[in-house]
Amino acid sequence: MRHIYLVGIGTGNPEHLTVQAINTLNKADVIFIPSKGVAKAELADVRKDICQRYVTNKAIRFVDYAVPVRQTADRSYVQSVDDWHAEISSTYERLFQEHISEDGSAAFLVWGDPSLYDSTIRIIERVKARDRVALGYSVVPGITSIQALTASHRIPLNLVGKPVQITTGRRLAESFPGMVETAVVMLDGEQAFSKIDDPDAYIYWGAYLGTEDEITIAGRLADVSDRIMATRAEARARHGWIMDIYLLRKGSDFDDQA
Ligand SMILES: C[S@@+](CC[C@H](N)C(=O)[O-])C[C@H]1O[C@@H](n2cnc3c(N)ncnc32)[C@H](O)[C@@H]1O
Repeated sequence: MRHIYLVGIGTGNPEHLTVQAINTLNKADVIFIPSKGVAKAELADVRKDICQRYVTNKAIRFVDYAVPVRQTADRSYVQSVDDWHAEISSTYERLFQEHISEDGSAAFLVWGDPSLYDSTIRIIERVKARDRVALGYSVVPGITSIQALTASHRIPLNLVGKPVQITTGRRLAESFPGMVETAVVMLDGEQAFSKIDDPDAYIYWGAYLGTEDEITIAGRLADVSDRIMATRAEARARHGWIMDIYLLRKGSDFDDQA
């Protein structure tokens, strides 16, 4: 049976790789490298850099493939993601049939950790469910963008004994402020923080975390919101793309203790 390794690679710093990740990459027969188009060429470069540094097994073959682009016209968000995953499943199925022998193995370098806002696991499950290629797979954890953010700002993720919500820009207004005191916001194309009007809220923002271009800004939301918007817009224009994440906080440690 073919075996697929989903290896978490961290968020842009090649030193985020764990020893387990390095050892796993070196035992695959094939490593698949996504090419996402010129705008995010830097992300493909990070994967190449990781392979150059750590893949010492000369027998490993590298296979580049084009990741299908998500189509959004004439469909809901959920439908567009579902169609996209179906298309990627077909691409993976073809890659597995063409490039891995029946008892061979291959690895994908998954950004951050495969469990967090990433669908590689779901897509491999889809390929298995289609039942045209017999597959097993395993997951190697990686440093997430949440860990990169909290480390750069030197903050704990949670307040003492309190929960954390991980959400997207699209859904932030449902929970913060109000339901939760700590919200981590990912995949925010609309700068949802700028619509929050709360004098007690703090923000810890980071872009390109782990890379040489890392930018961080922190402060009272009301004081730094405009600076984050301007910095983000300038960086996005300069790079042609951006990945950013932030933590919003209200309250403090022990403020609920009698
Ligand atoms: C598709 S999700 C992938 C998350 C990834 N699996 C992880 O463990 O962090 C992409 C989102 O993660 C966040 N992200 C990933 N890498 C980042 C980085 N280097 N700097 C800032 N945010 C990052 C951004 O919110 C981005 O929109």
